[in-house]
Amino acid sequence: MSDVSTVPVYKDSQMPVERRVADLVSRMTLKEKIGQMVQCTGAEFGDEKAYEDALREGMVGSRIGCDSQWAGNEGSRGISVEELNLHQRIAVEESRLGIPVINGRDIIHGHRTVMPVPLAQAASFDPEEVRRSARLAASEASAEGIHWTFAPMMDICRNPKWGRVIEGFGEDPYLAEEMAVAMVKGFQGDDMSAPDSIVACAKHFAGYGYCEGGRDYDASEITSGTFHNVVLRPFKAAVMRGGVGTVMTSFQSNGGIPSSASGFLLRRMLRETWGFRGFVVSDWGAVGEIEFHGACQDAKDAVRAAVNAGVNMEMIRSLYPRYIEALINERRISEETIDELVSGILRIKFMCGLFEHPYTEADPSRIRSAETLAASRRQAAHCMVLAKNNGILPFSDSLKGKRVALIGPMVHERGPLGGSWNLGSPGHEFRTIGEAFAEEAEKRGVSAAITDSALWDEQLRFANRCDVVVLCVGEHSNSTGETHASARYRLPVGQDELVDAVRRTGRPFVVVCVSGRPFPIPGARDHADALLYAWHCGTETANALMDVLFGEQEPSGRLPITVPEHEGQIPIYYGRKMPGKVNDWENRNANLYDDGWPYYNGEDFLPMYPFGFGLGYTTFDVSGICVDKTEIPAWDTVTVRSRLINTGSRRGTAVVQCYLTDVRASVSRPMKELVGFRKVTLDPGCESIVEFELNEEAMGFYDADGNRLLESGEFRVGVGLDSTVRPSVPFFVR
Ligand code: NOJ
Repeated sequence: MSDVSTVPVYKDSQMPVERRVADLVSRMTLKEKIGQMVQCTGAEFGDEKAYEDALREGMVGSRIGCDSQWAGNEGSRGISVEELNLHQRIAVEESRLGIPVINGRDIIHGHRTVMPVPLAQAASFDPEEVRRSARLAASEASAEGIHWTFAPMMDICRNPKWGRVIEGFGEDPYLAEEMAVAMVKGFQGDDMSAPDSIVACAKHFAGYGYCEGGRDYDASEITSGTFHNVVLRPFKAAVMRGGVGTVMTSFQSNGGIPSSASGFLLRRMLRETWGFRGFVVSDWGAVGEIEFHGACQDAKDAVRAAVNAGVNMEMIRSLYPRYIEALINERRISEETIDELVSGILRIKFMCGLFEHPYTEADPSRIRSAETLAASRRQAAHCMVLAKNNGILPFSDSLKGKRVALIGPMVHERGPLGGSWNLGSPGHEFRTIGEAFAEEAEKRGVSAAITDSALWDEQLRFANRCDVVVLCVGEHSNSTGETHASARYRLPVGQDELVDAVRRTGRPFVVVCVSGRPFPIPGARDHADALLYAWHCGTETANALMDVLFGEQEPSGRLPITVPEHEGQIPIYYGRKMPGKVNDWENRNANLYDDGWPYYNGEDFLPMYPFGFGLGYTTFDVSGICVDKTEIPAWDTVTVRSRLINTGSRRGTAVVQCYLTDVRASVSRPMKELVGFRKVTLDPGCESIVEFELNEEAMGFYDADGNRLLESGEFRVGVGLDSTVRPSVPFFVR
């Protein structure tokens, strides 16, 4: 019989996590503590043998990527569960304290089954579907030994020229908040330690989406009010509502302070104000970049800044192991701070069950299961945004026997459908739109005309000989994501001309935009019979597109960002502040949308499509908007009601949106703010009462010092089907 008293407290799963953390930290040498603060690819050590030695010495807290090469000239091995287990066994069974390594990887939108890019997922306006999608991704990733993902990214972005706009949830803080919480809950599940859960990471903390000019990595200059009311909101929600386990710092500096050195962000907001108890990882090399920002004296000083600000773990192994000990000796950082930072890392390792279940039992049945593929296909359809339709969609039996030309640069593409963060599925695995269309057309007795030729003259010849044309334009996934920013916000070169050339054929035509973000396509808006934003929707893009084109699914996505008429309008977003020069008091809250900007040199200021906009295959009407109380004390809530009717002839789904205006406050507030949305499905002729409950969360705001205020006075609320709603129903907070 073993003597239970010899089991150290930290190994005893019955003990409370805090006791386990304290016990373990008290046993660790400084070197072992620093080891926990290191995240590495493995390759930093030179070769696999050296990596194994480092594991034995307790020098590795986390591994990133998990399919790294061990030598520069070696190809990627992919993820090997066997290899991960072997390395874990060394950490657990051969190191002095047996602390398991937490394996991290960018599971951003799916793993082996690639899901729609996050911006597309936001377009679904369906947090439950987003949660489920993250859950399935977690199940696939954990079945291959991954414990931790670097998602969700919740950087609000109002400049879609920034390539990383596709990794986030768009321009609106409320939508981003709902999506962020849903994704965190999906990854982490109800129980972070379940074998099919992975730890989530709220990133990039904070302000990265405001990099100036949309230039990746460029500095941001965000005012305090915007920081609190817009940028920080999804992070706060991810921590306080979602219980996110980890947070990643952003690369850029804001107001001259690199995020990885920001005590304001990492201590005052994250830990002191929101009560975060997990750990912060820097972005890749971002500790060292504090020096390159010019915001400290040298590399060693960068470590001082990051440690004191509260960066628990350095991604990737570089400066922490080199300088922490010396900085302690010089009393520029304290060992208490190191203990606090290491405790955060260990806390999450305990909470996610790593000590109890360090190894992975490979479970191929969780990879691309029928359930996961079906969910991904459904979600993709529900993300797609129909921006224009004169009735040509969905294709019905009337197409039987007709010739349909499928043309355009995206018809035969595979890899780009996966989006910019696809690490789990090689491009060749994707089905092309051409392949899916050929099969679908045959099933439905439609004659599909698809050419292999990439030459436009040949493609247009096909178009000319057909009854209907489907033109698939779009961008490569490599044009989006990290390190990608463009000066233009347009379809790639030549594609607008192609739209115009198809118009000149005189054939009815549908434009499908297969891209990470919704580009303005004036030719499609003005001349196409339909325009569908189909996004980079991952593994099931092509199948889901067929479901939508042929009416098996309704495209029920709505725009999570405003589509400008032209890039010169950027930044253009619906929640702008009210300008003083627009002094038509009654109408000012909305007339900038409906009537344009009076101070432009005669140019059109209206966006091409507003935030929240999207059509379905039926029509809806919202009416009878009312509030249950016209006066409330600050602690009370107001219930907003409206009647939604399906006025069309098909069953369909509406995204009912509630917008609020704080008419007069101590500072200028946004013209309107999204405060609620519901996705409602109704049969033709049917109606439903849609309710929103507004509380302090909706009505309050932060002042420049980050104090939460709910000021008395007039509010106006509106309910509709996109952000052009005019909030006009008043109520008063007394
Ligand atoms: C840098 C990116 O900014 C971040 O989003 C990502 O998670 C890390 N690299 C790890 O790949």
